[in-house]
Amino acid sequence: MDRYAVFGHPVRHSQSPRIHAAFAAQTGQALSYEAIEAPLDGFEATLRAFIAAGGRGGNVTVPFKEQAFRLADRCDDLAAQAQAVNTLRVEPDGRLAGFNTDGIGLLRDLTQNLGVPLRGRRVLLLGAGGAAAGVIGPLLAAGVAELVIANRTAPRAQALAARFAGQGEIHTAELTAPGEGFDVVLNATAAGLGGQAPAVPVGVFGPRAVAYDLVYGPPAAPFLTLARQAGITACHDGLGMLVEQAAEAFWLWRGVRPATAPVIAALRGG
Ligand code: ATR
Repeated sequence: MDRYAVFGHPVRHSQSPRIHAAFAAQTGQALSYEAIEAPLDGFEATLRAFIAAGGRGGNVTVPFKEQAFRLADRCDDLAAQAQAVNTLRVEPDGRLAGFNTDGIGLLRDLTQNLGVPLRGRRVLLLGAGGAAAGVIGPLLAAGVAELVIANRTAPRAQALAARFAGQGEIHTAELTAPGEGFDVVLNATAAGLGGQAPAVPVGVFGPRAVAYDLVYGPPAAPFLTLARQAGITACHDGLGMLVEQAAEAFWLWRGVRPATAPVIAALRGG
């Protein structure tokens, strides 16, 4: 049986094993998928041991995505731009291929599952860490009218925007004054992990804005509560993005596209 795994720290609450087990059952693929918690200073050793034991590929989550990018022998364009890898595949010659499916996952969830158009829209992206970097390329490619990156530490946002300059209308702004009336506001900060919402004024939300947090479950609550208090009804966490990025990884490994809707519904059902 082909082995796959998600590597992270912590990783025990990861939904990825459940998602990939559902994909495998649905498509009749014989594979196993486990969650492996690598020590903070031991990602490479843990990954190499897994591959030596027959591992065919894996997903990579916080805090190892940048390390995975450096370890990959070759990367696709999205991973190279993001300088972060969330999907690894062991090639027939033993080389390690790196991909980033996070941005594709976000786009599929927004446009296909939630019916949120992006072309011509003004989008505000909060945060400038690895999570933000992973979604900028696909957002620009989707034809947004403007993508504004606002981060607590402004120089980080400026450095990130500079990396994507020339690919579309990308600007930076102060987190506390990022502009008003956006159509889509995406939270890619880690503030929710500490129970906080990023310190944005409620005017960032346009009258029919969509608020979306890239994480799911309780850490998404502070930002989505802020949006609801601003009168926004279209508030979404990142569970759909998680399932969609997993589906793209599954396709890269197995050449088969699983249906995502039943898996999202099952996870929402508890
Ligand atoms: P990730 O891979 O999850 O993006 P990261 O690279 O450590 O993790 O980035 C965390 C992001 O969350 C950063 O944009 C960070 O802002 P700074 O660059 O100023 O550190 C942001 N962040 C974390 N806690 C925050 C908070 N309480 N309010 C606003 N932004 C916060």
